[in-house]
Amino acid sequence: MTNGASEAISTAMNGFLQPGDVVLCPSPAFGLYKNLTQINEATFVEINTEKENYKLTAKVLEQYLNKYKARVKMFILNYPNNPTGVTYSEGELKQLANVLTKFSVVVLTDEIYSELSYEEKHVSLARFLPEQTLLVNGVSKSYAMTGWRVGYLCGPEKAIANLGKIHQANVATIGTLNMLAAEEAIKNGDQDIEKMRLEYRKRRNYVCKRLKEIGMDFVSAQGAFYIYVKIPISFTGSSIDYARKLANEAHIAVIPGAAFVENDQKCFRISYAASMENLAEALRRLEKFVKGR
Ligand SMILES: Cc1ncc(COP(=O)(O)O)c(C=O)c1O
Repeated sequence: MTNGASEAISTAMNGFLQPGDVVLCPSPAFGLYKNLTQINEATFVEINTEKENYKLTAKVLEQYLNKYKARVKMFILNYPNNPTGVTYSEGELKQLANVLTKFSVVVLTDEIYSELSYEEKHVSLARFLPEQTLLVNGVSKSYAMTGWRVGYLCGPEKAIANLGKIHQANVATIGTLNMLAAEEAIKNGDQDIEKMRLEYRKRRNYVCKRLKEIGMDFVSAQGAFYIYVKIPISFTGSSIDYARKLANEAHIAVIPGAAFVENDQKCFRISYAASMENLAEALRRLEKFVKGR
């Protein structure tokens, strides 16, 4: 058990990575993966998924694994994805697993949004690659317990025993009360998860409907609580410039696409982990901002 999913990720990456290693990861991606790769003096190689509807295919994965060969120490997959909301079906995961099993690579699968899948039931990649996979999860998203800082890292016994030493050296343990709270959530909180999943799905549908009305293009999201929106092509600045304008002129906060990808894709991320009332107001302001330009 770790201090949130964040420490599960850092323990796994600090434990396995050495200078010169390559980490493969589909992009756009949660920024922590790149930061931890750099802290460990390894090389972060993004697999750009924009052309494939933001989804990594087995074919592209194999091309990258063959290109970097033995230098690839780790492959990271996060789904449902932050920032796109894209997720993978059982069939798609099996295809990725069939490729990964041919290579000596550690698979780090970050499934922190596993309970927030709106169309299909979430399936873990670890099911198909138990000997090769480190699975990250926790209570931050599914139980809305971000501040309690409880995550976990699962994997082959020997790997976890060794990674446990890194965890012990860094944080010793997480707080007992936090673990007890997480235990209560995991044992007795499933009804609340379902209630929130349905609520988030409603918010996702609402945000998508409003974005369409405003005339904005965005990635079709099946999970997590994010929408990755394309900035209108008439805007010539960077995604950071656009996000700053939205903050200063429309008074709404979004995350610029540049936070998730090396080459700015001119997108921004909306989080709909907010009340319907606030979402309605934010979208009203966005509409006014876009129409006013
Ligand atoms: C993909 C992903 N992994 C991990 C985390 C971190 O979760 P935690 O708060 O449990 O450390 C986040 C938080 O935004 C995330 O989006």
